[in-house]
Amino acid sequence: MYRKGQDLKLISIRYVNLPAGGENIAEEVTENVLDGVRKASEVYRKDSGRKSSKNRKPLKIAISGKGGVGKTTLAANLAYLLARDGYSVTAIDCDSSINLPSALGIREKVPPLSTLRQLIEERVKLPFGAFRYNPKVDDVFEKYSAVNESGIRVVVLGTIEKGGEGCFCPENAFLRAVLRHAIFSDDVLILDMEAGIEHLGRGTAKGVDVLLAVIEPGRRSVETLRRIEKLARDIDIERIAVVVNKYVECEGARAILDEVSKNYELLGIIPYDRCFVEADMEDVPPYRVCDLKPFEKIKEKLFEYCSKRPNAKKDRV
Ligand SMILES: Nc1ncnc2c1ncn2[C@@H]1O[C@H](COP(=O)(O)OP(=O)(O)OP(=O)(O)O)[C@@H](O)[C@H]1O
Ligand SMILES: [Mg+2]
Repeated sequence: MYRKGQDLKLISIRYVNLPAGGENIAEEVTENVLDGVRKASEVYRKDSGRKSSKNRKPLKIAISGKGGVGKTTLAANLAYLLARDGYSVTAIDCDSSINLPSALGIREKVPPLSTLRQLIEERVKLPFGAFRYNPKVDDVFEKYSAVNESGIRVVVLGTIEKGGEGCFCPENAFLRAVLRHAIFSDDVLILDMEAGIEHLGRGTAKGVDVLLAVIEPGRRSVETLRRIEKLARDIDIERIAVVVNKYVECEGARAILDEVSKNYELLGIIPYDRCFVEADMEDVPPYRVCDLKPFEKIKEKLFEYCSKRPNAKKDRV
């Protein structure tokens, strides 16, 4: 029974003796229940006048795009700027080629959560072949993450099984639970993803405020953008915005820019700058040595865009 003033917390969801194929339904039901709890918690927070660390809502940002376009560079620089503004920031590397920790200046090895087999078994598996769909993961954030020089907490998720929609295995249940935990938290969340967004289930995706698709001026990355947009729509992500990186002024690049800005919310353009290449070669976090002005503008536009209701015209191609 819920009593006024009490924090909302869902203790446990268990499914016992699932019939064959029941995993998909169980996962969907779990995510919907958790989405309900998330919404109820938001209402409760508003009613009780509780605020997060800053006046502005702590955004939950997913970053995706074709390989090599600059997702990690954007994730690291945004995380840095938001931490500098006073937000508590959690950055999660969801890419199988892990490089967010080094872009944030972390030297020690951060273990990918998907490799913690024993812990995953302990938390997810129940007797008689049953699974726990919302395992305890809050302590995992403390234990298996690193905090960088700006106070940004960095978590490495590791590889998720992509065996078809709703593929269920203990690792996926565990990683999804970690993402849900991050989405429920009061921290700004930055997810550095691959070209796919497989880590996000429908319920988790509902908590993502915006999907930032990074492109470079080139046809292949625009094609990837369309694919990402479709994936995002399928799981009901409402806001999709584009950042153009490595921009070099020329006719072809201008044409791509025009096309993209007609169909998508364009948050900003980052020029091609050797500084990023050199920072990467020297293994120095880009925010220490490169020009952050384009990223500052993107950050401001991001808050502006997320404060508005999703725009039906621009948000649907
Ligand atoms: N604006 C820029 N100008 C020049 N080089 C850049 C720019 N942004 C990023 N880079 C460089 O491009 C390379 C790829 O960047 P980054 O690692 O951020 O991309 P990514 O999309 O995360 O790649 P991956 O798909 O491999 O994870 C790096 O060497 C980075 O320093
Ligand atoms: Mg990357």
